[in-house]
Amino acid sequence: MAYTIAIAGKGGTGKTTLAGLLVDYLVKQKATPILVVDADANSNLNEVLGVKVDMTLGDLRETIVGSEFQDVNPIPASMSKQDYVSAHFSRTLIEESGYDLIVMGRTQGKGCYCFVNDLLTNQINRYAGSYRYLVVDNEAGMEHISRGTLPSVDLVLLVSDSSRRGIQAAARIKDLVNELALAPRAMKLIVNRAPGDELDPGTVEEIEAHDFDVAGIVPNDSLIYEYDCQGRPTVQLPEDSKARIAFESIMSGIIT
Ligand SMILES: Nc1ncnc2c1ncn2[C@@H]1O[C@H](COP(=O)(O)OP(=O)(O)O)[C@@H](O)[C@H]1O
Ligand SMILES: [Mg+2]
Repeated sequence: MAYTIAIAGKGGTGKTTLAGLLVDYLVKQKATPILVVDADANSNLNEVLGVKVDMTLGDLRETIVGSEFQDVNPIPASMSKQDYVSAHFSRTLIEESGYDLIVMGRTQGKGCYCFVNDLLTNQINRYAGSYRYLVVDNEAGMEHISRGTLPSVDLVLLVSDSSRRGIQAAARIKDLVNELALAPRAMKLIVNRAPGDELDPGTVEEIEAHDFDVAGIVPNDSLIYEYDCQGRPTVQLPEDSKARIAFESIMSGIIT
């Protein structure tokens, strides 16, 4: 089974940025093939990776759920929904060098999605087995993981900003993960966008109060922000970008 890494944290803390850098790092380490799952409804991991998305899993789901209400049913009469999912699932996989990307797209509209969700869950789990790593960029509430759409998790990387309240928010997500009975083998905190090398003593106190396993600190890097504003993929950051160096050094201590 693939080693599954889920990235979690409050919105805006840098989950998607670090998910992109993680994929890039694993590819460089030849820890491939990787299945990258963008499980956030407001998905933009593809932009961080510089990949174009034509079809999301959400699009496929809408086609199937909406099929009965359309003048021309896109699903041939001779085909079951199951067959249709099997035939079209691979279209939602975007093949890149070293990894495939799948975008969950937006979550449900009206209608009953349980049946289709189950079909998609089966497909994802069937595919997941043939990868070495699974990297999942999550929504703050970890919806897909909590609903069981995604396979079980080996490592949760919790991302927080360097503020005291940020750490408190990360602690709530840590509690949520524990309540969901995800039982990840490890859960580690990454403090992102730190203003300097040392954290404020107040932040450190909060980290200790919540008994976090700290993986490391990624500094605020104006280049990341510049690339973002210019619409350039984050993975194109130079190798000596300080955030990239810090993050890769953290990951090299976790993935050996
Ligand atoms: N280490 C960093 N230094 C500077 N800017 C960062 C850093 N990490 C993330 N950002 C910026 O912060 C914003 C939010 O990051 P993003 O990865 O989209 O967060 P999330 O996925 O958690 O919502 C983006 O504009 C991103 O470019
Ligand atoms: Mg994001």
